[in-house]
Amino acid sequence: MRKIKIQGDPKLQLRGKVKIGGAKNAVLPAIAASLLTKEKIKLRNVPLVTDVFTILTLTQELGAEYNLKKNSVTIQAKNIRSEEASYKLVRAMRASILVLGPLLARQGKAVVALPGGCAIGSRPIDLHIHGLEKLGASINLEHGYIKAEAKCLQGTEIEFEKKSVGATENLLMAASLSQGETVLKNCSLEPEVSCLCKLLVKMGAKIEGIGGETIHIKGVKELGGATHAIIPDRIEAGTFLVAAALTQGDVILTHTQPDHLSNFIERLRFSGAKIDKLNNYTLRVIGSYDIRPQDITTFSYPGFPTDLQAPFTVLMTQANGTSIITETIFDRRFSHVNELLRLGANIEVIVDKAIVKGQTHLSGAETIATDLRAAASLVLAGLIAKGETIINEAEHLDRGYERIEEKLRSLGANIQTLEE
Ligand code: EPZ
Repeated sequence: MRKIKIQGDPKLQLRGKVKIGGAKNAVLPAIAASLLTKEKIKLRNVPLVTDVFTILTLTQELGAEYNLKKNSVTIQAKNIRSEEASYKLVRAMRASILVLGPLLARQGKAVVALPGGCAIGSRPIDLHIHGLEKLGASINLEHGYIKAEAKCLQGTEIEFEKKSVGATENLLMAASLSQGETVLKNCSLEPEVSCLCKLLVKMGAKIEGIGGETIHIKGVKELGGATHAIIPDRIEAGTFLVAAALTQGDVILTHTQPDHLSNFIERLRFSGAKIDKLNNYTLRVIGSYDIRPQDITTFSYPGFPTDLQAPFTVLMTQANGTSIITETIFDRRFSHVNELLRLGANIEVIVDKAIVKGQTHLSGAETIATDLRAAASLVLAGLIAKGETIINEAEHLDRGYERIEEKLRSLGANIQTLEE
């Protein structure tokens, strides 16, 4: 089990340059999309994070072959050997559900373990299932598995009851190989969805309305190979922006995409950080000694990202006053709070709100990570906590951050990996 040790320093000032990697939440659907064709899919700017290895293993179990070289991967699913995504892999990563649409479209059959809940919420998949049933699939849930069959998928109009990134992505992939036209309404607007659409178009899909709430897909008989660059990870970028703001640092983020973070950057500027866009791919952030409190509410894109709620909460523990953080996307995304309390934070959770009282001086402690973004918040808190912080179950971090300790060390943090 991986452990991280941080020698915190309330006077730490992170300084230097950090290269942001490819987006985990864009590369996972892109790898799932490789199941839609017999041809090769080459992806560049791939983050080497455990979720990527998990989904590559899953595609391999289904019959694909892949070749991973540094931050590029070529995947080819010439033949699908099995249509079953096992519980073992789906439990390891709920995003495995993203193979449901491609398998159904390619093979007319898919058996995918129900992902179940996780540390941040119940994580239902009703929107995925209803959408695929509207395309003509017959779906049974039995013995913890989704058993889906469809002789051929028939395009139709589908309006999502609520915005769902994964359901939008599953339906985009399934509709690309359906007969006729599909209109998807109330689609998620996340940049990762647009990244998938652009890959599908390169593969020969006929998609209009990319980046909007209504997307038109004209199904085609076959999809071909493509080469595609994965967009930068806006959540990794946001995490480093908070790290610099928290430590009154002066950090330059390269290989990022500032326009994917507009709302978040505005909130950080309001808190006192100075953030300049040096060019379309580079941001400079200078932290302020006077951090202003503010109330934020998470929303689907382009609103405040739920994946940055936990990291931002740490910043608000250092603000001069009270902030109210409202989480509207997931029903249990405050598991980081209990651990932050042990570091000396003053936070009270009432239903969907965390009331954060600042400024509190944090002191190092032994902690335990519960999920990916909670783990990131513990690292951020450990940087400025007085004394030593240990983070147990730090493997959660590796799911979405490539070499985060190394990147933070290069900016001046005293953070070590303790292998156990
Ligand atoms: C994606 O998860 C991201 N994961 C999440 O990032 C991100 O927090 C989330 O979108 C934001 O919406 C990947 O892209 C791999 P949703 P996803 O479907 O697709 C409810 C991270 O830390 N819902 O958009 O699973 C759901 O319960 C991860 O990188 C239904 O009710 O999220 C939630 O309340 C965490 N029925 C809301 O919709 C469904 O069928 C948004 O979920 C599906 C979802």
